[in-house]
Amino acid sequence: MQLPKALYELEYNHGAEYGHEEEAAVLEVLRASAPSCGPKVKEFEDAFAAFCGTTYGVTCTNATSGLELAMIACGVGPGDEVITTPISWISTANAAAARGANVVFADIDPITLNIDPASVERKITARTKAILIVHLYGHPCDMDALISIAKRHNILLVEDCAHAAGAEYKGRRTGSLGDIGVFSFHQQKNITTLGEGGLITTSNKKLYETMLSYRSLCCLTYDPKGKYLPIDERVLPMGLRYWMLDFNEVGYNHRMTDMQAAVGLVQLGKLPLLNAKRSALAKTYTERLSNIPGLTLPAVSQYVKHTWHVYCVMVEPEFKLSKEEFMWEMYVNRRIKVWNHYMPIHLTTAYRNQGHHEGECPVAESMFKKYVSLPIHPRITEEALDYMMRNIRELA
Ligand SMILES: Cc1ncc(COP(=O)(O)O)c(C=O)c1O
Repeated sequence: MQLPKALYELEYNHGAEYGHEEEAAVLEVLRASAPSCGPKVKEFEDAFAAFCGTTYGVTCTNATSGLELAMIACGVGPGDEVITTPISWISTANAAAARGANVVFADIDPITLNIDPASVERKITARTKAILIVHLYGHPCDMDALISIAKRHNILLVEDCAHAAGAEYKGRRTGSLGDIGVFSFHQQKNITTLGEGGLITTSNKKLYETMLSYRSLCCLTYDPKGKYLPIDERVLPMGLRYWMLDFNEVGYNHRMTDMQAAVGLVQLGKLPLLNAKRSALAKTYTERLSNIPGLTLPAVSQYVKHTWHVYCVMVEPEFKLSKEEFMWEMYVNRRIKVWNHYMPIHLTTAYRNQGHHEGECPVAESMFKKYVSLPIHPRITEEALDYMMRNIRELA
């Protein structure tokens, strides 16, 4: 059965919102032969870095590849440990695991579900190479505590900002708080670059140069006097680009295209408005769902600006249905795409096979029994909102 459009948006839960500006941007690049990684990429990187308050930006194919570039820049390799949260999309932990590092899961804060700094500190060893945090759902982590721990132990701090484009902690934008920030522009994110995309921010020149180089196969050229130049296809004149080549490490092709970057520039301009729409929806959800016995609504810390990538409620034991029954009723019978953001990574088969197990992160495991996220994105209409609120109230 085809759902009416308003309700289809609830089931599909895919918030990409494009308009005439994106169409014009795509056409402009198309008419310039749609280069791979050219001037639009550089323009988008500079604009996004400026928006976050960092010196450098490096686009990439998605946040999964961006996180891996970040791990490379941090020097993460076999035998090293990377401390991260179990409550994230698996890409976060995989970035460290893919470098051969041991992933160490710290437990979470039961209110925000963000990584708990006290647990991070307990897990630091002589082999800890990086701390990889996630601003879950768009609510920034407790950054004062995390920055202080990273500084005291001289460990690099990487922010997974996949949910947090435009989020702020004490007036500073995410992506500028740690040593490196990684953003996602997947179709479900707050802004998107034609379905996939990522961008890394940093103000550290060395980290920047490493990530830029690995993004493009660690490719070098050299001038007639034998001086090596890293290949930067965004700015290097064509004549110099490929006349002689060398590769100084084993790198990747994680490049974004100019067409994606042109759309990214337009979407960046719309980000405040898109985030404001999510914020207004979240406010309405909170108003209309208050006082339901057994349903705990999300709390927002005073010092943060939330981007509401996800609106997550806790189904407590006092609720009329179990979490599973609630999800089944909502998703299968009412076609409202509620979801689990996320299955604890240490309990996935991939990580159990590496020796991770139940009991490793007790708070995360107990919260997993309760959390359910409701669809939230800028295309949700009044009609869809009413339908969702009415159904939740009915089930309660
Ligand atoms: C927290 C988090 N980190 C990383 C990623 C990976 O992003 P991408 O799909 O751009 O690779 C996601 C994707 O959903 C995510 O939610």
